[in-house]
Formats: sequence, structure tokens, C-alpha cells
Amino acid sequence: MLVLIVEDDEVSRAAMREYLKLFGYEVQEVERAEEALKLAERADVILMDVVLPGMDGVEAIRRIRSKRSDCLIFVITAYDDGRILRKAVEAGADDFIKKPVNLDFLRLKIEHALKTKSFHSYRNSYLLSLKKKLMFLEETAVDFFNEQADLLFEMLEILNLLSEYRDTETYKHTERVGWLSGRIAEEMGLDEAFVTEIQFAAPLHDIGKIAIPDKILLKPGILTEEEFEIMKQHTIVGYKILSRSKSSILRLGAEIALTHHEKWDGSGYPRGLKGREIPVSGLIVSVADSFDAMVSERPYKKPKTLEEAFREIETLSGRYYSPEVVEAFLKLKREVLEVYRRDEGEDSPNDRKRSHKSPT
Ligand SMILES: [Fe+2]
Ligand SMILES: [Fe+2]
Repeated sequence: MLVLIVEDDEVSRAAMREYLKLFGYEVQEVERAEEALKLAERADVILMDVVLPGMDGVEAIRRIRSKRSDCLIFVITAYDDGRILRKAVEAGADDFIKKPVNLDFLRLKIEHALKTKSFHSYRNSYLLSLKKKLMFLEETAVDFFNEQADLLFEMLEILNLLSEYRDTETYKHTERVGWLSGRIAEEMGLDEAFVTEIQFAAPLHDIGKIAIPDKILLKPGILTEEEFEIMKQHTIVGYKILSRSKSSILRLGAEIALTHHEKWDGSGYPRGLKGREIPVSGLIVSVADSFDAMVSERPYKKPKTLEEAFREIETLSGRYYSPEVVEAFLKLKREVLEVYRRDEGEDSPNDRKRSHKSPT
């Protein structure tokens, strides 16, 4: 620990030097402030007299401080002049010691100041390392979240394609049901997170059909009562596949799979729920799914025109469909007509099954 004494009084200087050396300090001493400026570069503690020949102590402190913030500077003064002390503190002094110097007191003050300083530098470096750690964790969390989101969307796409392979419904159908459901939810004023989630969850509404035998699922004609009972099971199977997921999108998909064939008047399946007993997700997808199915060509039926399908949905409001959902859907008529007409212009019916283009 190097102490630099800047003092023109030889006796006082020698007393401090000898005393501090006894306690293991390395000591350098100068008479004038000008000489101190160079030596100050290495010093840990500087004891600075105020009244000196040539440059005064306050000016010397200011110059030393402009280059070094990490050393301790004590002003040594015989004067109790508050103005001088204030100037010294403004220049960068840490503390002051009165002349004649009490050597024990001087040593204790130095020791105490050094301890405080090391505590502060430890605290600062600790805070800095904590800040770095936090920044690292934040970056890692963002990367992790993005990876998880990418993975989830890929999985949704795979699930979607999987159900397409087993079904006569097209990828375009499930994709449009997703888009329509999101737009209806938005029009109903439902919150933003729900709007996004239903858009990704709605395409999974028929995922349970992978468990339905081909002879029923792909049958071109009308199903017998017994076959229809089996077909109804796709709602429950879909729910079982998705409901145990940790992802809120897949859990919403489970709710939709289970309820998208329920009807407002209680005549739907699998549970015959009525009105508001049916979750809003199921009510929305029921309209979106029915509308898209009506205007799509299937092996066993001709498509309705867009206008016919709108009329049918409107007519069945309050019977099959929630009036509130139908109201929102009808408000979207212009936008829906535009998207469906553009879609038809873009794809020939044969291309549709493989098209991954967004309907918007
Ligand atoms: Fe279905
Ligand atoms: Fe469907």
C-alpha cells in the first residue's frame, strides 16, 4: 500500500513517514505539489497539505482527480476554514485531517477509508457481474422462447398435414378455418392472445378423425346411423390427443375438437351442450368450419356459392350457431368474399390440397 505525503513542513512529514512505515506502509514524500502530480499515478493514498509553495493543495487535488478516481486523498490543514475544506472536497478530496496531526487517528482514518473503498469496489464488481449474468439469462430466455415457438408452429403444421392425409378435407380447408376463426374472434372484441391462439388451434378441429376407419371416413355416400355414431367419436379422440399438452394453443385445440359439432339449440354432439354451455372457441369454429365446408367441393356433394353459404349461416343463427358469432361473421362478409374469390382465382381445385399459401 503506497502512501504519498505532500507536505512542505519537514518535521510533520518525517513524523508521518516514520509512523506509517512502522505499520507496513510504503511511503513516498514530496515538498511541492508540482512534484506530487507524477508520483500520484501510483499512490493508493495521498496526504495533501493545502498551503504549499507554488501550486496549492486544492489545485493539485483537482489535477490528480482528473486522471485518477480510485485513490484516496486526505487534506491536511491547520485551518478550520470551511471555505477551503469545501473547495478541497469539490476538487475531489475524500476527507480531511487537522494539524497538528494525531498519528494514531491518521492511521485509523486511512485504514477505515481503505476498508470502505474495498467494500465499494467489491460491491460494484459484484453488481457488474450480476448485471452481466442477467443479460446472459435474458438473451438465453429469448432464444429459448423463439426456439419453442418455432417448434410449436412446426408441430402444428405437422399435425395439420397428418389429419389431411387421413381425411378428404384439404389443407386449405383447415388453414381457412384457422384464419376465419381468428377474424371472427377479433371482430367479437376478444382479447389479442385468444385471437392468435384460436387461429393456430382451430385447424386441429378434426385431428381425431385419424382414429376413424377408412370405410367410414372416406365413404362417398350418406353414413348409416351406426357409422355416424363412430364418426362422432372424432371429437372425443381429438380432445384426448390434445388435452394433456402443456401448450395453451394445443389445449385450446382440444376444447375446439370436443365442441365444434355442438349446436346452439342443444342438437349437436358429442354432449348435446346448449347455448353458452358451449365454449366460445367451439361456437366460433362451428361457424367457420361449416361455412368453409359449405363452399368446398367434396366427393359426395356440390359446393354452395359464397352468397348461399352466407344466407344459410344467417338462417341458422340461434338454431345451430351462436347469434353473437354469426353477427360478427356477417360483418366480415366483404373481406371473406374478397379472400375466397382471390383464393379460387389463384388455385385450381386440384392444386388446393397441397397449397400452403396463407388465405390472407
Ligand atoms: Fe369435425
Ligand atoms: Fe372441418
